[in-house]
Amino acid sequence: MLQPPPPFQLRALDLFDLPAVSIIEKQAFPTPTKEKSYQYELTENKLAHYQALIYERDEQAEQLLGYAGYWLIADEVHISTIAVDPQWRGHGLGELLLLNMLFLTYEHDASLVTLEVRENNLTAQSLYRKNRFEVVGRRRRYYRDTGEDAILMTVLLQSNTAYRQFLEHKRETLFAQLAGAQF
Ligand SMILES: CC(C)(COP(=O)(O)OP(=O)(O)OC[C@H]1O[C@@H](n2cnc3c(N)ncnc32)[C@H](O)[C@@H]1OP(=O)(O)O)[C@@H](O)C(=O)NCCC(=O)NCCS
Repeated sequence: MLQPPPPFQLRALDLFDLPAVSIIEKQAFPTPTKEKSYQYELTENKLAHYQALIYERDEQAEQLLGYAGYWLIADEVHISTIAVDPQWRGHGLGELLLLNMLFLTYEHDASLVTLEVRENNLTAQSLYRKNRFEVVGRRRRYYRDTGEDAILMTVLLQSNTAYRQFLEHKRETLFAQLAGAQF
């Protein structure tokens, strides 16, 4: 797990985070994932790995700013979600959650990261492209709520030392930016 500068902290998402997750879900997605599904992910799904991004005011008071998760399937990391509290967007925290998953991918020794993103979600597509994900396909009308297509994006990590250097540079830049900002 990456260790961003204080007051930010990354740790495993826990059951007690789920009420705060539900609040962000409702603001982040057209069809929010239900708390029950997250309970299943955290307690039953052995492939699932979820992380929480916390603002730690002091040891007693934590605030959930965002979360992300993926399924580890053989040597593939499939990103299942990433979301930041709307009041905290635009400060690099989505990128922090994504970078953390990419570094965890190396720890799992996985070689490929995949995800689906809504065709109209240009913000998320921009975040992924910025981190060198490439479009590899499209699933027609994949999202039943809006009828949108899913864009499939991937990045290859195996024996890709240039990409690892790229990520390390990003991490340093982002940590310096977060450490220097007033929150
Ligand atoms: C996608 C999301 C996680 C980004 O979080 P964030 O903390 O605002 O993102 P960051 O501040 O780290 O920005 C990283 C990059 O995302 C893209 N981005 C962020 N906000 C953007 C905006 N309003 N318009 C276009 N691109 C944007 C940019 O590429 C940005 O890099 P830049 O600042 O160098 O331009 C956030 O918008 C969110 O929670 N959205 C709702 C949930 C969602 O759509 N998740 C993705 C599912 S596939």
